[in-house]
Amino acid sequence: MSVKPKVFATRRIPEAALERIGRECELEVWPEQMPPSYEYLTSKAADCDGLVSLLTDRIDAAFMDAAPRLKVVSNYAVGFNNIDVAAATARGIAVGNTPGVLTDATADMAFCLLIAAARRVVESFDYARAGHWKTWEPLGHLGQDLQGRTLGIVGMGRIGYALARRCHFGWDMPVLYHDAYRNEKAEKELNAQQVDLNTLLSRSDFVSVHTDLNEKTRGLFNLERFRQMKPTAVFVNTARGPIVVEKDLIAALKTGAIFAAGLDVTDPEPPDPASELLRLPNLVVAPHIASATVGTRSAMADICANNLLAGVSGQPLPAAVNPDVEGKRRR
Ligand code: DGY
Repeated sequence: MSVKPKVFATRRIPEAALERIGRECELEVWPEQMPPSYEYLTSKAADCDGLVSLLTDRIDAAFMDAAPRLKVVSNYAVGFNNIDVAAATARGIAVGNTPGVLTDATADMAFCLLIAAARRVVESFDYARAGHWKTWEPLGHLGQDLQGRTLGIVGMGRIGYALARRCHFGWDMPVLYHDAYRNEKAEKELNAQQVDLNTLLSRSDFVSVHTDLNEKTRGLFNLERFRQMKPTAVFVNTARGPIVVEKDLIAALKTGAIFAAGLDVTDPEPPDPASELLRLPNLVVAPHIASATVGTRSAMADICANNLLAGVSGQPLPAAVNPDVEGKRRR
């Protein structure tokens, strides 16, 4: 009788995926709402062949050193800044993520934050709920128009393109983008123009961030950058919190350097409940929910299971973060 590979999942993900993994592996799922501690996770590493991880789990070299059998880390996210990918490759461990299936849901959320911040939706709802709505106010709650205004996309990958497409075709927005790579599709289909970051910041009415978190983008949006933007500008971040220097964003919003912002991601997550971030009237904050639709999370779980099962059986991962690990995979 062949021994099933041992797999640890750091949280419950949609059931169908866990059932598939459970049919072929000896699966243990962390049952709590809060993630397991790093120490607990490391204690599980010793006899683990596969790991289903979340963006809240730190998977670093020390963890991998404690996991001599580990063949695959299947991250239930498209982002993988929680994993030391170079360390995984060096140890022959395959890493998978869930690209593609969350593009539309994330672009929808970016647009939702953009329009909510521009039109002061949450602030107005708070006002109504607090009983302050006494009459129609000619000068009350004035926000920013969207029609024909310029959208600046920082990071024109799949999600940036999907947001640009919505804004260009829905609201006739001219599109500027900043990216190390040229996006010919965006240029051809949306007439998007690749510009340097300074130009993008000074010319855009809406700036939306869609880059990875890496050493170049960490802290990219600081006070200096916010001051380059129009005082009427709206800033949106659905990528990763540490791309923004949060105290600088707070200062920019308080001093009117920019008009408003919408964040799906913060640094740290969650923010301190006492943080001004949760109190500014011109800031809308969502708890990292851009991919949180039933269909998207199921599709992510499906890819996550495919990656995991391929990984434990030594097959190439369908959605591989480090395809260069092939040839030196652990068996
Ligand atoms: C991701 O997948 O990286 C998102 O941040 C969460 O779905």
